[in-house]
Amino acid sequence: MKKGLKMAVDIGGMTIANPVMPASGAFGEGMDKLIDFNLLGALVPKSITKYPQRGNRNPRACETQGGMINSIGIQSKGIDHYLQETIPYYEQYCAPLISSISAESIDEFVEMSNIIASVPSVVALELNISCPNLKNNGQAFGMSDAITYQLVDRVRETTDKPILVKLTPNVTDIQSIALAAERAGADSLVVANTPLAMAIDIHSRRPKIGNVMGGLSGPAIKPIIVRQIYQVHEVSRLPIIGCGGVMTANDAIEMMLAGASAVQVGTANFVSPTAMIDIIQGIQTYMEEHQLYHIDKLIGGVMVRNQWEKDYI
Ligand SMILES: Cc1cc2nc3c(=O)[nH]c(=O)nc-3n(C[C@H](O)[C@H](O)[C@H](O)COP(=O)(O)O)c2cc1C
Repeated sequence: MKKGLKMAVDIGGMTIANPVMPASGAFGEGMDKLIDFNLLGALVPKSITKYPQRGNRNPRACETQGGMINSIGIQSKGIDHYLQETIPYYEQYCAPLISSISAESIDEFVEMSNIIASVPSVVALELNISCPNLKNNGQAFGMSDAITYQLVDRVRETTDKPILVKLTPNVTDIQSIALAAERAGADSLVVANTPLAMAIDIHSRRPKIGNVMGGLSGPAIKPIIVRQIYQVHEVSRLPIIGCGGVMTANDAIEMMLAGASAVQVGTANFVSPTAMIDIIQGIQTYMEEHQLYHIDKLIGGVMVRNQWEKDYI
């Protein structure tokens, strides 16, 4: 990094060296052959479930215009394997390890958080409250502000480590969900998981996804996510991690201007495995060009209404 540029950001009590990290599920151990994990702001492996599960039926992913739909269904080797194999693997890198947890009930979230947070090398927990709660008719936990509050509040009791709550974009009012998570003691909000989507093969007349619907990711969702980051930043004082459609440094900068302190990168990793490194370098170049000494200067820096009027009217 060029001397003097400060790229480190604070994510709810955890300082990371730069604001770029992988999105859970779109990053894995095999990528270590292609990029240096030590250069990333943090490491976020795929969401872990309590028991091993095979995931949803095939086909589980398809391309769409400007993105892809996936319905992997949290394929997982279970928490025992995670403790014995996954965490020790990531411990060899200096980038902090954030564990993403997926569960089927609030009690299960609490139980898993308790276990994983007690591992010293796990620096923070990310709660994937965007997955369907089977005890609640397939609704994601994060679609209800009351359930979001209850869930985060209960997990908060298990640990002092930073808790990142990954919100679902499939809500009418993301601000109320964000505030519920904040009131319950979340340290940071990941905005957001994937919008629910569907694609149909017009020749076979079958859904392109075995599970009929799945989550849309990639460039197609970025404007929705930028809007939701902006809305959450308006009401919450928590640091936001933007997630959804970051393919380039410009996308990351746009999310930071909307209010994100950091970004997660998912689909871009499938297109170009070096995407995250390119994005870090691109942010540095932007900072140099715009003579920004500290990356903090970008966060929430979008000029709207009054500022805009002052400059142009
Ligand atoms: C193949 C695939 C698997 C995913 N698995 C998970 C997961 O296990 N947990 C989770 O919280 N999000 C999961 N996601 C969602 C991503 O973390 C991210 O929210 C989404 O892809 C949007 O970011 P992107 O547009 O940069 O890909 C998955 C996404 C993809 C494409």
